[in-house]
Amino acid sequence: MRILVADAFPEDSLTALTESGDECRYLPETTPEQLGESLRGCEVLVVRSTRVPAPVFAEADALRLVIRAGSGTNTIDRAAAGEHGVRVCNVPGRNSTAVAELAFALLLALDRNIADNVADLRAGRWDKRRYSRARGIHGRRVGVLGLGDIGLEFAARAAAFGTHVHAVDKPGRDPETLERARSLGITFLPNTEELVSTCDVLSLHLPLTEETRRLVDHELLSRVRPGTILLNTARGELVDEDALIEAMETKGVRAGIDVFTHEPETATGTVESRLASHPNVYGTHHIGASTEQAQRAVAAEVVRMVEAFRNGTVLHCV
Ligand code: MLT
Repeated sequence: MRILVADAFPEDSLTALTESGDECRYLPETTPEQLGESLRGCEVLVVRSTRVPAPVFAEADALRLVIRAGSGTNTIDRAAAGEHGVRVCNVPGRNSTAVAELAFALLLALDRNIADNVADLRAGRWDKRRYSRARGIHGRRVGVLGLGDIGLEFAARAAAFGTHVHAVDKPGRDPETLERARSLGITFLPNTEELVSTCDVLSLHLPLTEETRRLVDHELLSRVRPGTILLNTARGELVDEDALIEAMETKGVRAGIDVFTHEPETATGTVESRLASHPNVYGTHHIGASTEQAQRAVAAEVVRMVEAFRNGTVLHCV
């Protein structure tokens, strides 16, 4: 089998991919435009940040499986994949802790104005008064939208910091998750409107679907409390960015944002975003999953998935 890995991947996992005699092309700098050509003769494609648009599937004659080395598959044109008989799979759950850690880091950083603190000090400015107005986390109401693996990990961290965790989740969640939520003291609320109007912090942990796209819009943001902290480490398209900018300007909302509606199509590039450059935003480069632990765990699962595919089984098909 020929495999193309078109994003950064741990060296030992690359070696593991070839151990059964497969050929592995490693092109971590490939752009979406180059993908079709790079994929010629390859049955399997592994990507993380690199987008896979429709034309790739028309060009990639031998392609049978695309593995997204992460949980979301919105960077892959799944409809085009289906038309060309290509299966699309994800790697769920392996980077949840890392994403929850980043969301919580953004919360602490925003509450204490860490980035501004550091920037001032680096510029030689000492201003203890300016940085003595943090509200603190303990005792605050934290709203979690979506109690999947990441939402639950985030909620566990929030509970450990003495906050009151509230959540809105999809119906029919498994008993194990519900039991963990109960043991963390999470209060379930009936709807998103109630969550946003009662919480001081809102953290988004939802997949991007047609139902969740722009869920955080003008109407929802009109209900938030002044000074709310919004955290988005899920997908940029969950939020109407213009509406969020307006809420930042009219209600003093602040935001920790790891994901944007328009991100570069590969792991490096340039970004022009009013949201990313807004002073109320602590923005990061879609690095929620970017810990060594998480990337090793994801890569190990990718190797297992390729082995399974070689043996005729498709794991984590979405
Ligand atoms: C995910 O979908 O799990 C993450 O967004 C992966 C990534 O960091 O690109």
